[in-house]
Amino acid sequence: MKLEPIKFENDELKIIDQTLLPNELKYINLTDLDSVCDAIRSLKIRGAPAIGITAAYGMYIAAKKLDTKISYEQMVKAGQKLKSTRPTAVNLSWSVDEILRQIKSLKSATMIDRIKTIDGSIHEQDYNACKKIGEHGNQLIPERAKILTHCNAGILATGGIGTALAPVYKAYETGKKIEVFVDETRPVGQGARLTYWELNYHHIPCTLITDNMAASLIAKKDIDLIIVGADRIAANGDIANKIGTYGLAVAAKYHKIPFYVAAPLTTIDMSIQSGDKIPIEIRDAQEILSFWNIRQNLNYKVYNTAFDITPHNLITAIITPVSVINNPNKKRLQNLIN
Ligand code: MRU
Repeated sequence: MKLEPIKFENDELKIIDQTLLPNELKYINLTDLDSVCDAIRSLKIRGAPAIGITAAYGMYIAAKKLDTKISYEQMVKAGQKLKSTRPTAVNLSWSVDEILRQIKSLKSATMIDRIKTIDGSIHEQDYNACKKIGEHGNQLIPERAKILTHCNAGILATGGIGTALAPVYKAYETGKKIEVFVDETRPVGQGARLTYWELNYHHIPCTLITDNMAASLIAKKDIDLIIVGADRIAANGDIANKIGTYGLAVAAKYHKIPFYVAAPLTTIDMSIQSGDKIPIEIRDAQEILSFWNIRQNLNYKVYNTAFDITPHNLITAIITPVSVINNPNKKRLQNLIN
């Protein structure tokens, strides 16, 4: 079966409930705006491009419910609700704002159909972007490479073959004998539960490690390169990605191995000058406590930040659908966007 985390068929939105993976592969229907918001907030669907696509379909579901009462103002409200679910990945607000921009001057009666068309093109655009990232990124992967990745930036996180994992799929398809080391990715285990599972599903050799093993594997020269995704890229090339990414970039620099970031153009936010301005999501303490079975009434003080910032000077290159941006900086990103 072809893995598709988001399906829109017969006017219905279905997603794989990723909180059940890897033990159960189950699609759930999202039938109203609240269920779409809940699915994004609770990580049933996650990964920057995937939540952008889901939010776009959420706008259509909201529009259809409004029916004859639809107005631009009502759609702005629906968009605000979607945008409030998760703050870091810019793809979510990009989708919502793109829809609002395109319907602003339309007559109410034509809005619903137009949103559906835009949603289809957002989904398709991401599918094509992943394919191109795969082609560009594959050029950077040597034969027999040992590749480290963090979190899940694969099929499950996008509308296509992934961002960080797209070059991996392409390298494997072209016959390279690669191996992927998968960081567990605490606290909710997107690496252990999702990346390992989807790579294994596609027969790609992979090995699961705990997050705190990565630096020592790099030091032992067991890793040739690192590829991760991004939730937002600031104008100067700093990136936000899953907590733990920054430490990998520091270790990569110290041990002189390439550190690549793969992302579609919808992840670039030129309105934010540098990484320190990117809003970082703080998540519930329970995500950490429940892993260890620690009862809430023991009153642990917990800090659970979902993402960190990797400065651009630790990034060897950003792999985009258009080209590979070496030593990313503001000028290079500006040229890419224009
Ligand atoms: O909290 P998540 O699972 O949504 O975090 C996802 C990541 O950090 C991914 O690396 C990022 O969104 C890129 S996905 C192509």
